[in-house]
Amino acid sequence: MPRLTFSSSVPRAASAVDLPIASDDMETLNPDRARAAELSGFEGKLGQTLHLPGPADEPVTVLVGLGERADLTADVLRRAAAAYIRSISKHQAAACTLAEEPSPVDAGDAVEAVAIGLGLGSYSYTDQKSKPPAETLRRVTVVARGSGTKAAFTRGEAAVEAVSLARDLTNEPGGSLTPVAFAAKAKKACSAAGLKLAVWDEKRIAKEKFGGLLAVNQGSTHKPRFLVIDYTPSGRAKGSVALVGKGITFDSGGLSIKSGAGMMTMKIDMAGGAAVLGAMTLLPALGSKTAATAYIPLTDNMINGQAQRPGDVFAARNGKTVEVLNTDAEGRLVLADALSYASEKKHDAIIDIATLTGAVSAALGSAYAGLMGTSDELMSAIEASAEQTGEKLWRLPLPTEYRSQLDSPIADVKNIGAGPYGGALTAGLFLKEFVSEGQAWAHIDLGLSAMADTDDGVVAKGGTGFGVRVLADLVANWG
Ligand code: BES
Ligand code: MG
Ligand code: ZN
Repeated sequence: MPRLTFSSSVPRAASAVDLPIASDDMETLNPDRARAAELSGFEGKLGQTLHLPGPADEPVTVLVGLGERADLTADVLRRAAAAYIRSISKHQAAACTLAEEPSPVDAGDAVEAVAIGLGLGSYSYTDQKSKPPAETLRRVTVVARGSGTKAAFTRGEAAVEAVSLARDLTNEPGGSLTPVAFAAKAKKACSAAGLKLAVWDEKRIAKEKFGGLLAVNQGSTHKPRFLVIDYTPSGRAKGSVALVGKGITFDSGGLSIKSGAGMMTMKIDMAGGAAVLGAMTLLPALGSKTAATAYIPLTDNMINGQAQRPGDVFAARNGKTVEVLNTDAEGRLVLADALSYASEKKHDAIIDIATLTGAVSAALGSAYAGLMGTSDELMSAIEASAEQTGEKLWRLPLPTEYRSQLDSPIADVKNIGAGPYGGALTAGLFLKEFVSEGQAWAHIDLGLSAMADTDDGVVAKGGTGFGVRVLADLVANWG
């Protein structure tokens, strides 16, 4: 990935410089450029770019479409920056003046957005290649002046690093990213960010009566882990927020086994845990005045002679007994313990994030994650953050009418609803059973938004890192 730097002027070494242009400003181009644009179908649409070579020794001018001027937002700048950096991969050094474009977006927010667009738009995962493809582009300089723009650039860089960490973890194969390996990576990231990390091993997990995490782990040769990460601001904390992330390092479905196709992508089933870890590492850079604690249950969902059977019953941390009728509904079992535990700690709010159901994507498609919860105020705050960061969330209900679907003939609850319909909602209702009464709680079901088939805007093919920025923004702007 190219290095991002910040400067108040275009560096000499840059062989490409952008010229941002809105679709309704096309007539401001000089006749030569206007003609080149017409010939190539460049209309200033968002995502379009056009390279216009200048005289020898002068940098290439890259027209970067912004779409309609009236629609210019931070999200537009992120997408335009991502399109720009994808178009200049043949250059060694380039400049990006996008943030200098006059727009209703605050100058600092614009610089932050551009840094994020450049950094995330050029993300690629090459750790498994024997010969990582050589990259030509080495340096892109974000050009901006004005007070606060340098600090905004630094915030953008930190966001790129945090999201890239979550993407790297999500993209890593399940065979190598075991719970122990995840914990080791978390240790490195937490010490770099100055966060406190506690790693519970299987003995501690048993002592703390995490029956759900142990039940899912029963069929595995890899030991489970439970991570507790603390961020404490300097000075008096403005409240405290809990972030809980599903960390299934591979989901085979267990004895209720998935199809080959259904299993193919299931290394991503720890994307919620990765998002929570990424968000925590971003809090110091955002200068959050609010404290946060992350809780990440880690195990894979595998099969051996000890694996849990459909029909088995376990008791979760809060004492509730669960009849497991489908071992593929495992995320909710590990979250049950984590949510019960987080509830004991009296946080102002608890937010969990998980690749919990395929059903949420049947409802919303792969670009949106579902948002459910017990507190309108909390969900509105999450939506406000998502509006800023461009991660798309859509509110879904937790209908009390469906609660009886979880009644078990032999235990307190069963782990699946009555059928395939409303599967994201019955999953949400199941989680609610493990959040204490009166606790403000919200649940983000990532479904397929955790991964992408193609590059699109700041999203690159593979793990998306969805949730990192929205959760960090929520905590940093709390209260
Ligand atoms: N990890 C899956 C959900 C999932 C599937 C997320 C595809 C993203 C992409 C989860 O553990 C699961 O298997 N859920 C089941 C629940 C069902 C058995 C009630 C599902 O969605 O089919
Ligand atoms: Mg499953
Ligand atoms: Zn799963």
